[in-house]
Amino acid sequence: MEKLPMSASRTVQTRLVLPPDTNHLNTIFGGRILAYIDEIGALCAMQHAKSTVVTASIDSVDFLSPAKAGDALTIEAFVSYTGRSSMEIYVKVTARDLINQNERLTTESFLTMVAVNEEGKPVPVPQVYPETEEEKILYESAPFRRENRKLRYTSRNK
Ligand SMILES: CC(C)(COP(=O)(O)OP(=O)(O)OC[C@H]1O[C@@H](n2cnc3c(N)ncnc32)[C@H](O)[C@@H]1OP(=O)(O)O)[C@@H](O)C(=O)NCCC(=O)NCCS
Repeated sequence: MEKLPMSASRTVQTRLVLPPDTNHLNTIFGGRILAYIDEIGALCAMQHAKSTVVTASIDSVDFLSPAKAGDALTIEAFVSYTGRSSMEIYVKVTARDLINQNERLTTESFLTMVAVNEEGKPVPVPQVYPETEEEKILYESAPFRRENRKLRYTSRNK
């Protein structure tokens, strides 16, 4: 199977934070951001694998700063590592105040998507390779995250 660059799966969405998305502090609900992360993770993984995918795990989510109603969210994702059938997806969310154009990183997340066939059984995916400095850092640290992930779900299954 031909290897693919991380950039081939890069997916970007923009969303406006609206009042129904926010809590009593006028900042966006974490659960809303999680839904955006899961959706873009699936889009990005399908783009890479060219097959159906399921979310195996949301491995980490760090809410670094709040986004408020009226901010524009940019949600960006790409495949940062691959196993046989699994893909680690890196997602980052930035919020931009459209009036003063201040932009800040609000959320970072890693999740694992698995490519499956019609019976829901895992199928192989193309391997991925990094090109930019940011991609290389993520790629090189991925085996450590993969090991931690495996430890987590295999110890739970015992
Ligand atoms: C994810 C799923 C397909 C894995 O199936 P499985 O029979 O356990 O398959 P395997 O043990 O062969 O694992 C397949 C891959 O998934 C990975 N995986 C399995 N469980 C995982 C978990 N909890 N977290 C991260 N990765 C996981 C394995 O490491 C393996 O990766 P690799 O092929 O790159 O080495 C299956 O557990 C499933 O269907 N889960 C429910 C998914 C779902 O409903 N998601 C929510 C809605 S989309």
